[in-house]
Amino acid sequence: PVCRYVSKTATSIHLDFDYDGPSMKTPVPGPRSQDLLKQLGDIQNVGAINFFCNYEESRGNYLVDVDNNRMLDLYTQISSIPIGYSHPALLKLMSNPSNMCSFFGSGEFNWLGKDNFISVDEKKSKAVLAVAPSGMTRVQTMACGSCSNENAYKAMFIWYRNKERGDKTPSNEDISTCMINKAPGCPDLSILSFMGGFHGRTLGCLATTHSKTIHKLDIPSFDWPIAPFPRLQYPLEEFTRENAKEEARCLEEAEDLIVKWRQKGKPVAGIVIEPIQAEGGDNHASPKFFRSLRNIARKHGCAFHVDEVQTGGGSTGKFWAHEHWGMDDPADIVSFSKKLLTGGYYHKDELQADKPYRIFNTWMGDPSKNLFLLEVLNVIRRENLLEEVTHSGKALLTGLYELQAQYPGILSRARGQGTFCAIDVCDDATRNSILLKARDKGVLLGGCGDCSIRFRPALIFKEYHAHLFLNIFSDVLAQFK
Ligand SMILES: Cc1ncc(COP(=O)(O)O)c(C=O)c1O
Repeated sequence: PVCRYVSKTATSIHLDFDYDGPSMKTPVPGPRSQDLLKQLGDIQNVGAINFFCNYEESRGNYLVDVDNNRMLDLYTQISSIPIGYSHPALLKLMSNPSNMCSFFGSGEFNWLGKDNFISVDEKKSKAVLAVAPSGMTRVQTMACGSCSNENAYKAMFIWYRNKERGDKTPSNEDISTCMINKAPGCPDLSILSFMGGFHGRTLGCLATTHSKTIHKLDIPSFDWPIAPFPRLQYPLEEFTRENAKEEARCLEEAEDLIVKWRQKGKPVAGIVIEPIQAEGGDNHASPKFFRSLRNIARKHGCAFHVDEVQTGGGSTGKFWAHEHWGMDDPADIVSFSKKLLTGGYYHKDELQADKPYRIFNTWMGDPSKNLFLLEVLNVIRRENLLEEVTHSGKALLTGLYELQAQYPGILSRARGQGTFCAIDVCDDATRNSILLKARDKGVLLGGCGDCSIRFRPALIFKEYHAHLFLNIFSDVLAQFK
């Protein structure tokens, strides 16, 4: 009864390791998943587990579960499967015996100068630095997104204090007070973040996370400034005047907060922001907004940290979402994780900590993940995946616009860059019900913000998959008429 999307240019399957469509045997979670949930529930909280996966059977854009349900995955474990499941290039890499040593030991650059890992280290620099953001030649790998941001914040504080001290070494008072969490050794510095932002759940990151109360309740935090993030109207091209006004309001408030916090004796050492607020509801802002914010940071001597944990790795159609801003000097620090498989952050030379062990932990990333990243980057280049993402993203967003026109009482605010798309649903309950119904029809989606659905397919998601998804989504929506 509803419109069908038929791909004219991509009717056949492009990927030889992909399946040809979803195949559902049971509702999800099926009996086997439920059984495993019960077993695991005896030793940990399983409230966040939806079902159990069968990775041996999962391929390409399809995730197979332990009940043999095969689902088209537009969520990819919160955007962290860059080139789909069981990509042949990665399987080949794993079966190469000379790569096995990368699974031993802890991360690189730790206190054991591991000769036998030298080739891995070389590959790491090749892999990770090959995609360094403009103006950045240094990188520090870490294990996860929160760990990357937490250490990036520390790097900003160390940089700020060293700047204040000039040539002087830390005073005796600095040294003695830091051990008892008191100033000046533990200075009252702050980081400015944005309402709706998400930067992780560890204590420092959490002080800059403002997306959902469940993350924050009962956890002590810092008195750090929180600026409003623009609440724009979509499609952006149709509301340029209204959106420019909203962005100007937010920029003004951000600058006011920087001044206020300095007056309070808690100067802002750094500003942290996502190029698209992801967990907080896929909130976009214009390149001009980010360029102006970057200038505000410079004007007030704050480091500018762009958190690309979710946006980085190609899903916006550029490797880094901040490349859409068109700047030679977009940031002082750029953090990453998810699609890059390893976590970490790039930084300018001056944000390098001045002594060893100031930024340090046991793992400092994982050598095996760097090997995977190197191969993922090869695949992205070889298969022109950034162009593909732009193409399939256009098909996805066009379909979402059409569906929102067809279901104005249910859907609104379709938006996106590349395949990094989202759409709002009339309320939280309907959104959640749509997500479950889509899953039972063989499509995996995720929510974000109060009532949005976010789309985070792998980079191998083609126009064909977009059409397949839109047909199923359209059938699901028909149930809500
Ligand atoms: C923008 C952003 N920053 C940081 C994080 C935290 O990463 P992790 O969950 O690996 O700690 C996330 C996770 O979703 C994220 O989306």
